[in-house]
Amino acid sequence: MNLQFNDSSITVAVVGCGGFIGSHLLDAILSRTKWRVFGVDLDFYRIQHRLNDERCEFMVADLADKSVVERIAKFPVVVNLAAICTPSRYMAEAPEVIRSNYDHPVALADACEKSGSWLIHFSTSEIYGRTSVDSGLLVEDETELTFGPVKSSRWSYATAKLLTERYIAGLKNLKWTVVRPFNFVGPYMDFMPGVDGSGIPRVLANFSSALVRGEPLKLVNGGVAKRSFTSVFDAVDFLFALFEAGQMGFVAADAITEKSPFSQAFNVGNPDNEITIADLAWKMRKIFAEIKGVNIESIPEPESISGVEYYGEGYEDSMRRLPSVEKAERLLGFKAKTPIDVVLRESLTWFVKHYGCLDERLETKDER
Ligand code: UGA
Repeated sequence: MNLQFNDSSITVAVVGCGGFIGSHLLDAILSRTKWRVFGVDLDFYRIQHRLNDERCEFMVADLADKSVVERIAKFPVVVNLAAICTPSRYMAEAPEVIRSNYDHPVALADACEKSGSWLIHFSTSEIYGRTSVDSGLLVEDETELTFGPVKSSRWSYATAKLLTERYIAGLKNLKWTVVRPFNFVGPYMDFMPGVDGSGIPRVLANFSSALVRGEPLKLVNGGVAKRSFTSVFDAVDFLFALFEAGQMGFVAADAITEKSPFSQAFNVGNPDNEITIADLAWKMRKIFAEIKGVNIESIPEPESISGVEYYGEGYEDSMRRLPSVEKAERLLGFKAKTPIDVVLRESLTWFVKHYGCLDERLETKDER
């Protein structure tokens, strides 16, 4: 059976609808299907152009509110993207990070189990923990998970996310799928520190901010760690492959087989886009010079800084995150396809247009 993209009776609940991934998912649902969306978030600036869409209902709320959780769980498919995922906060605000990444999502999971909804829960590639530079492919159902000691508060987030995965997997009557994103990037990712957010965002937003400000890119511990960057547009295609394979959850219990995408965790990443953070910095510097049409020599060179000096006490790193994507290919027929140069150019061009000429906003940075 093919999924009915033109079935206007389907409503998808998207928690974190105004966030980076949520905003792209919302655009894709509204342009590719006739479905309706029930969107929940605390901040809607990325989706202002959708606020009056008659196929959408939005709610300013978070999962700390029990009545909101119950309302969300009434929809047959619930995508939960809400999370605190700003690395500098893992050390500074560990209890809040844990509440946001454990207490809130498990309350939603309980409610979905009761109502029979399909919960698509966004976890993180960080649950693979403290990987080394020569860790190999990270495989969903095989790789050992190792975290740093409790005093290394960097792991507050990963620990909460992992416990949530275990809780979800332990709920006997919940129809669930867990998604582990590997460094999604694209337009609207994170924020520019001092302009529309505070703290240290993830590396792409941070490097983009430094380039726009004419400051050197900071390489944490020399930038030897590696990541596999994934286009957010590929990530949205993954979700559509998942919706299709799971028939929006409208699958009778006796029709669920080992090929169904339920009770599964999926890595969503692009192993072809693996790069060291130092190489990423040099590449972004070059692309930025091309976008701006300036001599590359006029752009400051990257500088190394220690992790503790940059993020504070308790920082540790995952040295390599290389996803196995075999399961998504086998069960969903999905493979990310956007090459790193395309992803970076697209993200940086958006960033420069969005923030680059807003000089008056940059000047307000000290007030925030
Ligand atoms: C972060 C989150 O903690 C994960 O949960 C999330 O899944 C992941 O982003 C993601 O986007 O998928 P991480 O990969 O460590 O994890 O994110 P970044 O903060 O973007 O750092 C990547 C690497 O760049 C790290 O080695 C970091 O130390 C380095 N970095 C970061 C720099 O060298 N300079 C910077 O300015 C920022």
